Amino acid sequence: MDADLRSNLFQQAKDWVMEAGANIKAKIDDPLTINTKSNAKDLVTHMDQETERFFQTKIKKKYPDHFLLSEEGYGDNLSNLDGIVWIIDPIDGTMNFVQQKRNFAISVGIYLDGIGEIGIIYNVMDDVLYHAIRGEGAFKDDVRLPKLKESLTLEESMIGLNHNWLCRNRLVKEDTMQQLVRKVRGTRTYGSAALEFAYVAEGIMDGYLTMGLAPWDVAAGIVIVNEVGGVTTTIDGQSVNMLTTNPIITCNSEIHSQVIVEYIKKGRK
Ligand code: IPD
Ligand code: CA
Ligand code: CA
Ligand code: CA
Repeated sequence: MDADLRSNLFQQAKDWVMEAGANIKAKIDDPLTINTKSNAKDLVTHMDQETERFFQTKIKKKYPDHFLLSEEGYGDNLSNLDGIVWIIDPIDGTMNFVQQKRNFAISVGIYLDGIGEIGIIYNVMDDVLYHAIRGEGAFKDDVRLPKLKESLTLEESMIGLNHNWLCRNRLVKEDTMQQLVRKVRGTRTYGSAALEFAYVAEGIMDGYLTMGLAPWDVAAGIVIVNEVGGVTTTIDGQSVNMLTTNPIITCNSEIHSQVIVEYIKKGRK
């Protein structure tokens, strides 16, 4: 992508993210309409929909030839990633939004022909913005994030892991993840995939493993993690298909293959 176009697109996307964030913040104490989707824990509120609608209206008006891939139904039905595609999660961490009124993010990735060019993750209530432009580094607000630690061992690592990994599940046999939990220094669960990617990029977590993430959960995070030298693959080490849901690991590259080879592969169902 042409450097000028990329920098204009970033500025525009960032302005819209800040505007959407300000709207959510202004309405944070308003009564919420909460509905469920695939199951009783899969929540959606009118603010998820309103925020996605905001992006859809802005993008389609200013960039009619761009596409939108997004969670709440206002996006395009895409069968490929040709052209410029905005991959947006209007509120990532809806359960946190509902239960806690914090610890959620707006996540915007902009891809050209399947390649992530721009990633923006905005922690709305903390007012912290992570971003990256491909080849230009990653930033937390205006501070450049350093490359991830070298010579990292699993014993020194902190890993983001949803507790469902420790229940009986369809991906790994019992005691697979328990062994990993025993090996690492610590585990954390934040409830927003986008923020967990941002924390891996920031180096305050060394990896994040998740059973099933959609493109809008990871699009921005992948770009940001890449820029500090981290890697994101499926839990089997394959490249991520940005048109489907994938079980995903994003990680400091020092421990990526060790987690896959010594833990996941051994216990994979
Ligand atoms: C969810 C959050 C959550 C992750 C789920 C996602 P949503 O996104 O990122 O942390 O565990 O897999 O679906 O629904 O709140 O946008
Ligand atoms: Ca959701
Ligand atoms: Ca999400
Ligand atoms: Ca969402």
